[in-house]
Amino acid sequence: MVGSANLNIMIKAARRAGRALVKDFREVENLQVSMKGAGDFVSRADLNAETLIKEDLMGARPTYGWLGEEGGGAEGQDPTRRWIVDPLDGTTNFLHGLPHWAVSIALEHKGQIVAGVVFDPAKDEMFFAEKGAGAWMNESRLRVSGRSKMIEALFATGLPFGGRSDLPETLTEMARVAPACSGIRRWGAAALDLAYVAAGRYDGYWERRLNAWDIAAGLIILREAGGLAEPIEPEKDIVADGTIICANEALFSPLAKLVRG
Ligand code: IPD
Ligand code: CA
Ligand code: CA
Repeated sequence: MVGSANLNIMIKAARRAGRALVKDFREVENLQVSMKGAGDFVSRADLNAETLIKEDLMGARPTYGWLGEEGGGAEGQDPTRRWIVDPLDGTTNFLHGLPHWAVSIALEHKGQIVAGVVFDPAKDEMFFAEKGAGAWMNESRLRVSGRSKMIEALFATGLPFGGRSDLPETLTEMARVAPACSGIRRWGAAALDLAYVAAGRYDGYWERRLNAWDIAAGLIILREAGGLAEPIEPEKDIVADGTIICANEALFSPLAKLVRG
């Protein structure tokens, strides 16, 4: 697929940050002796990746606004366009030496996500999409799964951690969904959860308490692959609310019904 100039800038930035993160990921294993040491190292890797991405994106489009997980937000001279960046989604996996994490970059225009890139450097999988141009992984066009029976479906979710107060809701949702399907995964990188629904690897995914940078890029990839997505409370906005239920067309309603209860 021939992408726009902006998409090419996003892909190049994701690859450069990905190369730096892969180097740091190899180091993490040597640092595991001291969790604090490893934790500080990963925070530095994360910050460094965001700096590289910001250099590339803001260097190429200096008038756009910026929202990054590490560096916060800033309105641009052009108030209609904004980069939304998670330099390292799946930090806990990265810290534990698990090769399942990604760089996530989205471009918003007038409040709509118009392009998204989710790059998994450990597996060399570049997921990307632009509005109206379909979703892709490397050279292959993506399409959500064709499964239509709940009992055959594999779903992903996120579990609250570190004493978060939304654990009871999530456990209730799990108790409703688990008996109805063939499995639930918690792989720990929301951007990849969305990309995997787009690729038909998962049939659906839901999670609460996410941030714009976790979902913006994955959301356009999912929608361009034919997936449906809504926030848990339907009248809200997914990116602003930070909750999501998504699936292929056939499984969206049954999954949403169980999650919403
Ligand atoms: C986290 C991951 C995880 C999700 C968390 C996010 P981070 O992002 O996407 O899957 O459950 O809510 O915060 O901290 O690794 O960038
Ligand atoms: Ca994240
Ligand atoms: Ca992150």
